[in-house]
Amino acid sequence: MITLIINIKELLQIRDSSILKVSGAEMAILPTIKNAYLVIQNGLISDFGSMDDLPNINPEKCIDADGKIVLPSWCDSHTHIVYAGNREQEFVDRINGLTYEEIANRGGGILNSATKLNEATEDEIYDQSKNRLEEVISLGTGAVEIKSGYGLTVDGELKMLRVIQRLAQNYPITIKATFLGAHAFPLVYKEDHKGYIDLIINKMLPEIAKNKLADYIDVFCETGYFTVEETEQIMEAGIRFGLKPKIHVNQFNSIRGIQAGVKHNALSVDHLEIMKPEDIEALKNTDTMPVALPSCSYFLSIAYTPAREMIAAGLPLALATDYNPGSTPSGNMNFVVATACIKMKMTPEEAINAATLNGAYAMGISETHGSISIGKKANLIITKPISSYYQLPYAFGSNLIDIVILEGEIIA
Ligand code: NIG
Ligand code: FE
Repeated sequence: MITLIINIKELLQIRDSSILKVSGAEMAILPTIKNAYLVIQNGLISDFGSMDDLPNINPEKCIDADGKIVLPSWCDSHTHIVYAGNREQEFVDRINGLTYEEIANRGGGILNSATKLNEATEDEIYDQSKNRLEEVISLGTGAVEIKSGYGLTVDGELKMLRVIQRLAQNYPITIKATFLGAHAFPLVYKEDHKGYIDLIINKMLPEIAKNKLADYIDVFCETGYFTVEETEQIMEAGIRFGLKPKIHVNQFNSIRGIQAGVKHNALSVDHLEIMKPEDIEALKNTDTMPVALPSCSYFLSIAYTPAREMIAAGLPLALATDYNPGSTPSGNMNFVVATACIKMKMTPEEAINAATLNGAYAMGISETHGSISIGKKANLIITKPISSYYQLPYAFGSNLIDIVILEGEIIA
């Protein structure tokens, strides 16, 4: 099956497929072709170039993208979209003055979602989660990482990971699964941290590995959650079971979680709202991708990741949604890109690089996703007619997406 897209006003993020991420000053460059064509063959990008060089081919399908921009689908490398119910009451409690931390300390927060998750059937969780997945696909996301972490029991965690596996089987979007049993200590283990960590290492991890239910391991390394030592212990166990770490660090406090992640060759370290100079230093010349989650900062009214300082230090940066019921009930990558520009002072070029190629790197798929490159998956966004790609962050509340293509097929 050959699909041809012609008259593309501007084709964004064209790269040689050997480029797996962009860092520092390179992030300001977004390579494009104006007045372009693109050929899709068997779900992959097989050719692209200027309309002046349009090859003579006979496609089964031709899309005229006159006035429209084409870019790779968003790569959302950090989400928790498998969950049950919602936490709208906590949202109102925060409006009325409580903090995220205070709500968690009185048994709300992650533990509230864990109760709901354990009470729901696997089918109920699947049905709720698929609606969220369908929504993010329609918003231009073509690859997504999904975490467990609202089970906090052997059965609950396995149930979540099976739901993620079922979503991956039933939808054309690329999905990576992350085991986040170390999201919070369940109430019964409040005074027995060692007991819960033993459960993670000796009961959850072997089952997960045996059934190939996860690609990565995550830990919420934060004051009141998992210490750096506990985080290291859990990362090491995950690595023994073949799971690379991708961890939550520096959301509220800088406690040397980044250094622990780098030491264990984490694929990514995520959140990074609170960054000390030594945290930035620790990330230099490593293979670990820093990931910012600006919708979380927006929703909780907390600090934004200091993107300018990090990029000035030569670091790469990825952007993701953090879609979850507590801190970020939104999976809209378009909003993430706009908020990164508006609140973190990233340029449109930097934000688009961060939400495509670097996002793909942060979930280990940048050899196949995240740029317009020959041989990569034809996961594409075709915009409505727009004046330039600046519109994407500028018109922050508008949906500028006309067509979503996944593996060469028009999905939305
Ligand atoms: O990434 N910070 C830890 N985990 C999630 C929020 C979890 C929740 O509140 O349900 C996050 O923000
Ligand atoms: Fe998260």
